[in-house]
Amino acid sequence: MALKRILSGMRPTGKLHLGHLHGALNNWVDLQESGKYDCFYFVADWHAITSEYSSTEGIKDSTINMVIDWLSVGLDPQKSTLFVQSAVKEHAELFLLLSMITPLAWLERNPTYKEMKTELATKDLSTFGFLGYPVLQAADIIMYKAYGVPVGIDQVPHVELTREIARRFNFLYKEIFPIPEPLLTSVPKLLGIDGRKMSKSYDNSIYISDRGKVLQQKISSMFTDPQRMRKSDPGNPEICNVFAFHGLYSQPVKVKEIDAACRKAGIGCTDCKKMLAQRVAEELNSVHERIDYYVNHIAEINEIIEEGNRKATKIARQTMDEVRTAVKI
Ligand code: TRP
Ligand code: SF4
Repeated sequence: MALKRILSGMRPTGKLHLGHLHGALNNWVDLQESGKYDCFYFVADWHAITSEYSSTEGIKDSTINMVIDWLSVGLDPQKSTLFVQSAVKEHAELFLLLSMITPLAWLERNPTYKEMKTELATKDLSTFGFLGYPVLQAADIIMYKAYGVPVGIDQVPHVELTREIARRFNFLYKEIFPIPEPLLTSVPKLLGIDGRKMSKSYDNSIYISDRGKVLQQKISSMFTDPQRMRKSDPGNPEICNVFAFHGLYSQPVKVKEIDAACRKAGIGCTDCKKMLAQRVAEELNSVHERIDYYVNHIAEINEIIEEGNRKATKIARQTMDEVRTAVKI
């Protein structure tokens, strides 16, 4: 029996940080390794233009760097299809056809549309492309007849909208598309070093590629339990971002020890952070070795992307043949 297909994508807006790693990438790798799915992962470079239209010069480099990060954390082109959206022009055609049948009201009430407009208030996002962002996303997903879309909770409204659009297409023309489901990733609550959401725009991220002094420095400046002023004050690990990181990087016994010690002021935050920095460095060491390898073998990256583009295009062409017949165009 054919494996169920899943598909997910990321916008190439810069280097990936630990939020991406724990919120999405590790899950992508697990799904790949489970052997239960035919995995498609792609770089949503057209989607990046919706917010970066006035400075597009970084998108190509970000695409390459993102694929380097993907491969370095364990995505494997032998097992997953890795491709770039803009290389498969069929996405644009399907986007156009879907835009014809998508009611404006569905887009205007999209919560991420409203949120992102406020979050990125410095950019003018009153564009047609930005409003249509989820329609392009729907095209990405249904093009491959994906059964599931691994995403974080913030993307669920987009998958819901994709379901609506797919249903509408099936109803108006022909039952071509399976209705995709969001495969929710439980995202651990990891904040940036300043205690806000980890985000490139806040300049508070720990990048997957950070190492040595940079990594140490970032971890040493992380916000902790704000109530804990002095080393003699007992702390509360539950509200400490450093502790949340320990939960992911340290041995369970160690995590318990830190929890107990913190609560009775038996450990200082400086030492706690030093231990964390040590663990994160150890954990990322092999990732960094692979990053170094790929940075010096960009031709290999390009080949991997081209191969993925070929595989994706093959499926996209088949789908579009069916779609054109259904639409009678
Ligand atoms: N909107 C997604 C994000 O910002 C990226 C994306 C584009 C995507 N197309 C997709 C994710 C299709 C899943 C499936 O993270
Ligand atoms: Fe956080 Fe560790 Fe300080 Fe406790 S000791 S507040 S867990 S950094």
